[in-house]
Amino acid sequence: MCGIVGYVGHQNAAPILLEALHRLEYRGYDSAGVAVLRKSGLAVHKRRGKVHEMAARLPKRLSGNLGIGHTRWATHGEPSDANAHPHTDSSGRVAVVHNGIIENAHELRARLAADGVEFASETDTEVLAQLIARAGGASLTEAVRSALTMVTGTYGLAVVDAKHLNEIVVARNGSPVILGIGEREMFVASDAAALVRHTRQAVYLDDGEIATLEPRGYRVTTLDAAPASKRPTQLELADEAFGKGAHSHYMMKEIHEQPDAIRRTLSGRIDRRFATARLDGLELSPRELAQFRRIKILGCGSACISGLLGARLIERLTRVPADAESAAEFRYRNPVIEDDTLYIAVSQSGETFDTLAAVEEIKRKGGAVIGIVNVVGSSIARACGRGIYLHAGPEIAVVSTKTFMSTLVAFALFALHLGRMKDVSLAQGKRLIEALDALPERIAACIADSDHVTRLAAKYAQFTNAYFVGRNEGFALAQEGALKLKEVSYLHAEAYPASELKHGPLALVSPDTLTVAIVPADDLFEKNIGTIEEVRARRGPVLAIVHHHELPAAVDDIVVVPQLHELLDPLPMLIPLQLFAYHVAAARDCDIDQPRNLAKSVTVE
Ligand code: AGP
Repeated sequence: MCGIVGYVGHQNAAPILLEALHRLEYRGYDSAGVAVLRKSGLAVHKRRGKVHEMAARLPKRLSGNLGIGHTRWATHGEPSDANAHPHTDSSGRVAVVHNGIIENAHELRARLAADGVEFASETDTEVLAQLIARAGGASLTEAVRSALTMVTGTYGLAVVDAKHLNEIVVARNGSPVILGIGEREMFVASDAAALVRHTRQAVYLDDGEIATLEPRGYRVTTLDAAPASKRPTQLELADEAFGKGAHSHYMMKEIHEQPDAIRRTLSGRIDRRFATARLDGLELSPRELAQFRRIKILGCGSACISGLLGARLIERLTRVPADAESAAEFRYRNPVIEDDTLYIAVSQSGETFDTLAAVEEIKRKGGAVIGIVNVVGSSIARACGRGIYLHAGPEIAVVSTKTFMSTLVAFALFALHLGRMKDVSLAQGKRLIEALDALPERIAACIADSDHVTRLAAKYAQFTNAYFVGRNEGFALAQEGALKLKEVSYLHAEAYPASELKHGPLALVSPDTLTVAIVPADDLFEKNIGTIEEVRARRGPVLAIVHHHELPAAVDDIVVVPQLHELLDPLPMLIPLQLFAYHVAAARDCDIDQPRNLAKSVTVE
C-alpha cells in the first residue's frame, strides 16, 4: 500500500524518483508526487492520478540532488491533488512521504489547529509534517524522533527539510523501509523493486528504527536514540524480472510464468532417494515437526484461499488435521494458541498487515509459526524467521496468479516432507514427486490451449452476475475464480459451496446469471452433476471446468483440463479460471494490472 522512494547523491534526483515510482506503482496508484530539494528550497509536485500523469506535468528542468517521492493508495482523505504526497508543513520547509496510518492523527490535528496551524489536506501524513517542522532538536533526525514520540500507528516514512540540504531521514514502524547503498549516493524505498536497478546492497530497517541518509552513507538509530548496527544484505532480484516482456499486461506475463515459477519453488527441494522434500528453511527437526497435532494456515484474500487448498492437501496426505482462516478474522478473535498446533502464515508480499499482526499475536502467545512467503526479507518472512520461500520471482500485477500456484506447490512439498515422517510410503512419495515433476509441462499445456477460454470470455463478458460453485477443493477453486474475476473485471462474482446453492442462492439463478461449476473427476462428481441439473432447470447458463469431455448433464460450455494426481488436480484447474478473468476484463476494457480501489500489498488494517 503506497510506495515511497528517496534519493540523495550526485545525480539529478527527479528521473531516479520517477523511474522508481513507476516500479512501485503497483503498491497504490490513485495519486503521486515528488519533492526535490534545491538551494532555493523545496519544489513539490503532486497530483491525483497515475505516476505518468504527474510526471507529464513536471517542469522540464527540475534539478536537485536530493528528493523523495510517493505513489498513493488513499486511507485518510479521498484521492485528490491536495491529499497526494509529499505533504509539507505550512511554511513548505519540511516534506514527508508516508506509508501506513497515524492512528492518533485526529487528536494531534486538533492540538495543532488550536495552536493556529492551518492544514492543506485531510491526511494523517500532513500532521506528521507539521509536527516535525515544529519539533525541537539540532538535527532533522532529532526533530523526526521527537515528532514520532507523539505518534501512534504505523509508518514507513521519508522526510526532507530545506534547512538540511544533504540528508533524508527515514523511519519504520510496521511498514517496510529498505535502504539502498550506492557509490557516494543513497537510495531508499518501500520495496526492493525500486532499488535493484541502482544497487544490490540493501539494509532492511526494523520497527522502531530511524536512519539518516547522506551521499556518503547512512546511520541507523532507534527511537530511543541508541545506535543500531545493521549489516547490509545482497538483493538477489534480477532487474529484467520487473519488465512486461512481450505481454501487454503483467497479469498475462505472470500467468505464462507459472511453469517456471513451479520449477523455482521445487528447485533443490526434492530428495529422490527417500522420496521426500528437503525444506531446510523450516528449521524444525523431524521430532519437533512430528509433535504437532494440528496445522492452522493464515492469510488474507488469495493467500487465505491457497491455505484452504493447502490444508486439504496436507490433511489428505498426512492425516494431520489442517484448516485455514482469514488472518484478519483470526487476530481479532483472541485466538487460543495451542502448543501442539503449527501455524503457517501465507503471504506473497510478506507485508500484509493483518497477516503480520496474526504472526505477532501467535508469537506473543508462545505459538510456533512458519511463513510461506514470496518476497525475501519481507516483514512476515522476518517475523516468522523460518519457513518456505516461494522464489516465484516478482509479481507485479495486483491479482496474484503465479504466487498462488507456487504456494500450492510449497504446500505439496510441506505435505510430502511431513507425510514421509509419518505414514506416507516410499511409493506414495515417489508418485507425488513424479506428478510434481510433470506439473510445469501440464500447466504450460493448459496455458497454451487458451483460445477456447478467450472465446468463452467474450461470450460471457457482458453478464453482470456470476456464481462459482464447487465442493471441497472445488469450492476453494470457486472462491479463487470468483475473486480473480471480480478483482480484474468488476463483474459481480460470488463463490458458493455447490451443496449450499439450494439453501438460498438458487433464488438468483436465471438466464442472466452465469454459473461456473468446478467439476473434477472425483468422488463428488455425481453430486456436482446434481447441482448443475438444478441450475439448468432454472435456465441458468453453466460453464463447467472438468476433467472429462463427457458430462452426464447438459451444460452450455466446458473447459477440459488434464488430471495428474489426486492431490495436485486442483492446480491445472486454476489456469482457465485465471485466463477467464483476464479475458473478461480485457473485453470490458478494464485496467487489468491496476484494478480500481486496490493495491498489491495491503500494509494497513
Ligand atoms: C489476490 O489476487 C489479491 N490481490 C489479494 O487477495 C491478496 O492475495 C491479499 O491481499 C494477500 O496478499 P499477500 O499474499 O501479499 O499477503
